[in-house]
Amino acid sequence: MLAVDVKNIKKTFVTKQETVEAVKDVSFQVEQGEIFGLLGPNGAGKSTTILMLTTLLSITKGEASILGLDIVTKDKEVREKIGVALQDTGIDNLLTGKELFFTTCRLWGYSKKDSEKRTMELLELVGLTEAADRRVKTYSGGMKRRLDLGLSLVHSPDILFLDEPTTGLDPGSRRVLWEEIKRLRDNGVTIILTTQYLEEADELADRLAIIDEGLVVAEGTSDELKASIGGDVITFSFENDSDLKNAKNVLNDAIEDKDQLRITVENGAAKIPSFINDLNKNGIIVSSVSASKPTLDDVFLEVTGYRLEGSAGSDSSNELEVK
Ligand SMILES: Nc1ncnc2c1ncn2[C@@H]1O[C@H](COP(=O)(O)OP(=O)(O)OP(=O)(O)O)[C@@H](O)[C@H]1O
Ligand SMILES: [Mg+2]
Repeated sequence: MLAVDVKNIKKTFVTKQETVEAVKDVSFQVEQGEIFGLLGPNGAGKSTTILMLTTLLSITKGEASILGLDIVTKDKEVREKIGVALQDTGIDNLLTGKELFFTTCRLWGYSKKDSEKRTMELLELVGLTEAADRRVKTYSGGMKRRLDLGLSLVHSPDILFLDEPTTGLDPGSRRVLWEEIKRLRDNGVTIILTTQYLEEADELADRLAIIDEGLVVAEGTSDELKASIGGDVITFSFENDSDLKNAKNVLNDAIEDKDQLRITVENGAAKIPSFINDLNKNGIIVSSVSASKPTLDDVFLEVTGYRLEGSAGSDSSNELEVK
């Protein structure tokens, strides 16, 4: 049975001022025991999708089921199977970590004794045992995200939804959370997470969907998505703008990206000399050229036509200066 089966869901917000199609058409399937990533920029519709799938927001159109349970007609059963850590949590800062776990356990119906036991287990699991008696308001950003993760696990959910679990964290804290998320997956929990970070999707997700403007524009494993581009990415830089414009006419299929041209071909490195020859024949001076394997960044550019903000671009190994 599929952990999550989403079929053409849609969410339209109607306000007095405007109608926003936050999610236009999103479908994906998640197998049990995998980490599935929803990768997309600000406003893509990630949180709206998570809110619908966790029954916190009604769906406008389409259908979805969790472990075979329809999220609309079986919402109560669905809520028992899932845990969720939302992007904007309203954690009560005045409580200590331990008190917060204990209260949440009690809310889920555990006895006092079981709540105490579960509290200690979960504090340990997310590495907060030593900070257990400190007020949550004194926790660092990374500790708060680990707390969110721990709280979402109180009732031992089969399926976990994490909305941007590492946004705003430094690279070290991000790695710690990645390890915790992987450990949960290895213990059989299915995880659906959203992210704006290419590196996170690449490192963590067994499969992923790229979501842009409310639509799924690509889906697969990170390797499948990279392979779908086919071959190597060759990047050309030019001395000036007019050379770039002229080169665009010479190199068919080239995509303009900032002040570079990119072209995807099989055996990229071997084809560089003939490309440069063609350009030189047309009086165009290439200032540098590089060939590299496609990255998720290249996939994102290919399917959306733009780069995710803050992404560094594909690493330009094999860069050659052409003089
Ligand atoms: N309650 C709402 N009413 C009206 N519009 C909304 C509402 N919630 C979200 N939107 C709009 O829907 C679109 C998708 O928002 P959503 O929060 O799902 O994006 P996101 O991918 O989670 O972005 P981010 O990375 O910034 O968290 C945005 O244009 C947003 O402004
Ligand atoms: Mg969001």
